[in-house]
Amino acid sequence: MSVGQIIGGEYGELYVRQKAGKTIEIGELLSVGDVILQVHDLGYRSLMEDDDLARISGMQLEGYDDTHLMEEEIRNYITAKAKLLVQVRDGEAKIPKRLPPFFNKVDRVDEGDFAFLDKPDNGLYLGKIRSGSRVLDVPVFIDGKKALSHHILIPATTGRGKSNLVKVMLWNLVPTDYCGMLIIDPHDEYYGRNELGVKDHSLASKRVEYYSPNPPKGGFSLKLNIDLLKPWDLSGIIDLTSAQTDAMYVYHEEYGDRWLTRVFLGDEEESRARGIQETTMDVLRRKLSLAIDVHREGDRVYCRGGIFTTQGCENLLEQIVESMESGKKVILDTSSMSQDKELLIAGMITNRMFNRYKHYKEVGELDDKPTISIVIEEAPRVLGERAGRNIFHTIAREGRKFRVGLIAITQLSSMIPRELLANMNTKIILGNEMRSEREAIIGSVAQDLSKDSKNIASLDKGEAIVSSIFTKFAVPIKIDLFEDIAKSQEKKKLVFF
Ligand SMILES: Nc1ncnc2c1ncn2[C@@H]1O[C@H](COP(=O)(O)OP(=O)(O)OP(=O)(O)O)[C@@H](O)[C@H]1O
Ligand SMILES: [Mg+2]
Repeated sequence: MSVGQIIGGEYGELYVRQKAGKTIEIGELLSVGDVILQVHDLGYRSLMEDDDLARISGMQLEGYDDTHLMEEEIRNYITAKAKLLVQVRDGEAKIPKRLPPFFNKVDRVDEGDFAFLDKPDNGLYLGKIRSGSRVLDVPVFIDGKKALSHHILIPATTGRGKSNLVKVMLWNLVPTDYCGMLIIDPHDEYYGRNELGVKDHSLASKRVEYYSPNPPKGGFSLKLNIDLLKPWDLSGIIDLTSAQTDAMYVYHEEYGDRWLTRVFLGDEEESRARGIQETTMDVLRRKLSLAIDVHREGDRVYCRGGIFTTQGCENLLEQIVESMESGKKVILDTSSMSQDKELLIAGMITNRMFNRYKHYKEVGELDDKPTISIVIEEAPRVLGERAGRNIFHTIAREGRKFRVGLIAITQLSSMIPRELLANMNTKIILGNEMRSEREAIIGSVAQDLSKDSKNIASLDKGEAIVSSIFTKFAVPIKIDLFEDIAKSQEKKKLVFF
């Protein structure tokens, strides 16, 4: 049963007259022949002159009873503006290149219209096809291995379902071995220490590792020896002048792993002999002290604060990197740390992972390795214009050559330079009421979303548009609620036993 008819427009903006008694929603998908349209705006139309409409309305409002309109459903109607979303020919999705026949009737889409969608290799489930607010029973997959190494951006205003989406993706990735992950978790929400989380996956004990300064049973203690910290781990994370940075490198050159200890124990004579002013050393010590809680007491260096230590814990970075390389999902609980410390530790792991993968590429072993994906919340902290050059920045620029990608979560895409935004080849766009943010996203997507600003503004919790170089069109989806997915595993287990 048709819901409307094409009565005009042009490529990119067709006008569909809504049939009386039917409702067409913004974001709704409509089918006409082999083409699927998507509604991006709605408006009123009338065949009557404005003056007549005002006069009749006035009479009705003021109580002139017998002023009903003749054939009202013919004279007044709603038009939907729609764009050509995708054309299906021989079971394959194509970018539409021609208009559907003029005056054709349009129908609501149903499951059968999406028979052409298939599950790619390494299919990562994201959600179900959504037509406006109606959800169809059609699962949407993306090639996880490719999409994860080419970076994924998850932009949305607060509370629209970013974390829920990451939980769903993570859950679905737990059993796979094509991707190792590092999830930097400043809200300690993914593992599910006190609620349902990734730890409840039936394979979690084998495939998920949880590191925390105060780990629960089954978790690992997050404690790092300061000798593991290298000067390059600090760049772009802690605000250092070039003189302070040079001083670190000079000490590293001379003392290797013990450079940090020597920075604190060395005296004025030692630094002067290396051409470094004592004031530079003083400020450097103060900044390092603040960032990593290192202090000097007599001829001894010690750490307060519980995350860095001078004793033991030399193998933790190696262990984490090994786990990621074997396709495990590593969650870092950084909820109790300052932002500097969080990024420093995440950067230390990421630096080592990236360097390893660079090496694998050089020696021709990269193809055998799983893709690496790093989840970072509030991404402008490390990718923004004001952030220094750091490892996350490097990965956003060139990580895909080495199959290391980011999943960047943000409320403020506009703070990320355009060039980096454009490099994020998959965007899972959730609701956003800020126009400037929508424009930043729309300006950097793989498909033309120039007409979709209202559509994005109207997205409810868990409703999203997936725009990717790995999808033929920008796919509207509804993401499942994580709790439902996790509970359905429980139900399946019960049935099994
Ligand atoms: N796919 C979904 N379906 C139904 N409800 C959802 C969905 N995703 C999220 N919600 C609801 O919205 C709430 C907020 O979601 P979530 O914490 O994922 O948002 P967020 O974008 O991460 O917010 P913040 O910016 O505060 O981190 C959830 O507690 C849940 O109730
Ligand atoms: Mg969140």
